[in-house]
Amino acid sequence: MSMQLQLDINHFLATYWQRKPLFIKQGIAHFCDPISPEEMAGLAMENEVQSRMVLRNQDQWQASCGPFSDFSALSNNGATLLNQAVNHWHPACADLVKLFHFIPNWRFDDLMISYSTPEGGVGPHIDQYCVFIIQGQGKRHWRVGEKQELKEFTSGQALRHCGPFEACIDVIMEPGDVLYIPPGCPHEGYAVEPALNYSVGFRAPDQKELLNDFTDHLLQQQMSFTRYSDPELTSDAHYGEISRHETNKLSQLLTDLIRDPDVFLPFLGQHFSNSNHELDILPLEPDQQWHQADLLAALEAGEYADKVAGLKFLYLEELTNTLFIHGEAVTIPSEAYSDYQQLTQPGCNQMLIQKILAGRHYQPLLDWFNAGYLYLV
Ligand code: SIN
Ligand code: CO
Repeated sequence: MSMQLQLDINHFLATYWQRKPLFIKQGIAHFCDPISPEEMAGLAMENEVQSRMVLRNQDQWQASCGPFSDFSALSNNGATLLNQAVNHWHPACADLVKLFHFIPNWRFDDLMISYSTPEGGVGPHIDQYCVFIIQGQGKRHWRVGEKQELKEFTSGQALRHCGPFEACIDVIMEPGDVLYIPPGCPHEGYAVEPALNYSVGFRAPDQKELLNDFTDHLLQQQMSFTRYSDPELTSDAHYGEISRHETNKLSQLLTDLIRDPDVFLPFLGQHFSNSNHELDILPLEPDQQWHQADLLAALEAGEYADKVAGLKFLYLEELTNTLFIHGEAVTIPSEAYSDYQQLTQPGCNQMLIQKILAGRHYQPLLDWFNAGYLYLV
């Protein structure tokens, strides 16, 4: 039986999403671990995979970053191994994330997986993103508090911890149980038995991050900017003052840039179609590149095409004829736009791919196969 999310999605979104933590007993029916602790160690040996090891001895914490070759610490209590973006490197783990496709792709960050030995965990902390934590094998004791301001400090050099908090959820999670934690809610979880935990994480930038990324984007654009000017200045102005009229004009100068759809919309598309984590993209060598007819023939003969795991493939409601893929903006002829747009949906529609390749505007799609964004399984 395939895994199924046991959640009334509309009720969840209206009541809990971004608001309140929720524990869902057996939130995933027929849960089956897509990965083993041994495979977790294998991934933590790879350069491409961001991994961390956290060791806890009572109140003493120690954290280090991978890649790792020595996993002997995991034979003791109080140890946790964490791998980031496992969905990019492990197809069965990528499948687990599909249960959460009811939230738009641009909001999704990655699937982090932890393996912890009894008493192991990363300590009490507050995340700025929200997460569904799925319990895999073993049991883990989780405590979650309501959204609150708490003192935060650094432990063991690299860990950000928060002070003690009162729990509104206090559970021993078992395989298939799910915990939803919105941003700002303190939480801590310690393994009771050797445990795997799957964290499906969603990102949401704050104003500072977004503005910072917007500025980086502007620096790469060949465009001219409007400069402040005040032909209306008179001798009534006070030497030491920036007047209300002037502060309004300055803030308008910035607002105009953010409100300019030709500037802001492409930024959003490029920015959010860029994954925060490396993808397993293998561009084809020039002598291996597909030609339209060969690729179409291969698909018609039953070969299966797929998108590379974790690919951010987006469009903006307000920007027609442009698709964003892996941080790149691509203009699509109007005639083919609605077909191309459908490619951004979950899964990989084989008939649609064949239809586009057989049509006049196959070039962008062919380019994406050659760039390794799509591939034949
Ligand atoms: C963990 O699995 O140890 C960390 C999960 C989280 O706190 O988000
Ligand atoms: Co957390």
